[in-house]
Amino acid sequence: MKQPIVILISGAGSNMSAIVRTARERRWDERLGAHVAAVLANRTDAPGLASAAEQGIATAVISHRAHASREAFDEALAKAVDAYQPALVALAGFMRILTPAFVEHYRGRLVNIHPSLLPAFPGLDTHRRAIEAGCRVAGATVHEVTAQLDCGAILAQAAVPIVPGEGPEALAARVLTQEHRIYPDALETWLTARLAQNPSF
Ligand code: GRF
Repeated sequence: MKQPIVILISGAGSNMSAIVRTARERRWDERLGAHVAAVLANRTDAPGLASAAEQGIATAVISHRAHASREAFDEALAKAVDAYQPALVALAGFMRILTPAFVEHYRGRLVNIHPSLLPAFPGLDTHRRAIEAGCRVAGATVHEVTAQLDCGAILAQAAVPIVPGEGPEALAARVLTQEHRIYPDALETWLTARLAQNPSF
């Protein structure tokens, strides 16, 4: 079974790079029929685009600014994604709220990583909010995407202790290191399960 993966980014793309690196190191293509087919961004200035291109991966920009409405942008994005017939669409620092129609179109094959221990702190600015709430641990969550923001089934989590006195940036950097570990692992688990359900290559 072919399992193309499309990754959507808006920024640095460090999670995307971790997925690409892991896919190569662990031979996802031979073992799971899976490969990162494309990296798409909604911003022309997303630094992750250059990293993906350097690694020989197809890239494209679908700018949200070029579309009059959220619906029109999501339709254009879905058209670009569907060109790769993805088994899995991974949001990796993709900073757009998606329409219910987009989410429904990819139901069961759309996942995200969020920098908090969901269900705590959905939305933005998670590290500052966790520190201000007096949390002793922060973390990250890989989850399925549903129409409700940051609410889908949890696939993986990592907890990161909050060091007394540290700021949001330092915490974010430590959480990001864990994101790079749990996101590829969670995708590998997902791809392995899907292959087991439908083993015909
Ligand atoms: C990550 O912390 C991700 O969880 C959040 O935005 C950050 C993106 O980082 N949504 P990168 O683009 O993967 O480097």
